[in-house]
Amino acid sequence: MEERVITNKKLEEDQFESTIRPDSIDEYIGQTEVKENLKVFIEAAKMRDESLDHVLLYGPPGLGKTTLAYIVAHELGRNIKTASGPSIEKSGDLAAVLSTLEPGDVLFIDEIHRMPRYIEEILYPAMEDFSLDIIVGSDGNSRNIKIDLPPFTLVGATTRAGDLTSPLRDRFGIVFKLDYYTEDELFQIVKRTSRVLEIDIEDDAALELAIRSRGTPRVANRLFKRVRDFALVMGNGSIDKKITKLALKRLKVDELGLDNTDKQLLEAIIYKFNGGPVGIESLAASIAEEVSTIEDVYEPYLLKLGFLKRTNRGRVVTEKAYEHLNIKLDDRLF
Ligand SMILES: Nc1ncnc2c1ncn2[C@@H]1O[C@H](COP(=O)(O)OP(=O)(O)OP(=O)(O)O)[C@@H](O)[C@H]1O
Ligand SMILES: [Mg+2]
Repeated sequence: MEERVITNKKLEEDQFESTIRPDSIDEYIGQTEVKENLKVFIEAAKMRDESLDHVLLYGPPGLGKTTLAYIVAHELGRNIKTASGPSIEKSGDLAAVLSTLEPGDVLFIDEIHRMPRYIEEILYPAMEDFSLDIIVGSDGNSRNIKIDLPPFTLVGATTRAGDLTSPLRDRFGIVFKLDYYTEDELFQIVKRTSRVLEIDIEDDAALELAIRSRGTPRVANRLFKRVRDFALVMGNGSIDKKITKLALKRLKVDELGLDNTDKQLLEAIIYKFNGGPVGIESLAASIAEEVSTIEDVYEPYLLKLGFLKRTNRGRVVTEKAYEHLNIKLDDRLF
């Protein structure tokens, strides 16, 4: 499938993201409950002069997990060291990061569900007792060594909390689920991005972007960036509603933030599987996509809109979706 403007996936170009990432908890918009609780836990850890309990952040891509991990370190006044699940291949890789930690530091492991199981087991004593048990040497000459680690805070992020093993999950004292943002929150995020980048956007234009951002800050910022291009080339540089609508039309993002990929997915179910139910594997095969991409990237927003339903026999397209796509129920194949 084609590259999507509204993708919530991370892309190469995204150093851009770090320039507009809020640094402090008060700049972080929305997720009010998470923020309020986190403030208390951080404050308490500071008062006790202890490391903050390990934190697990989960939720769909682009909702601010990485951003929040950096904010935790910032608010604690500590350094952050980062790693990602798939990049830790050998126990030595993990030992190397762990051994650089200073007391109270934050270790951020992104995509923590993709860490190999035997690495995970090294993490257990590190999380629980701040101790590292590793085997050094080879074959005839190997021995176990135990290294004390300074107290630290592991912040783990995942889009798939269900893929974590329960022993790992149980070792996080603090677990937060991030949810889709409201239109009002996204509006504020767009306005904030406009201030940071020093590019004006009118309120009604910002609202239009908010509505079409699929509840996702990453999408809002990405659309902002594209609309800015249209404003520069086809307008006078500042972003109003007219140029925003024109840009979104050119980008093929509809009134609800759906693009061709969403439509292809829904239409595949409608025309190839008679509207469903269809099992996720068959659906994935029919559009040549991976099951996990459908589950993590394509489907969550369609489920949230109520365009798609999950039943125990598979995915079903709802009447609401037929209406939006302008397809009559009788247009189906059977
Ligand atoms: N609450 C927020 N307030 C303002 N901006 C935000 C907020 N949450 C996220 N953003 C912006 O959205 C972008 C994406 O956020 P982030 O990278 O933290 O998402 P993520 O949940 O880690 O995604 P992934 O699952 O793909 O790793 C960032 O550039 C950040 O600027
Ligand atoms: Mg992230």
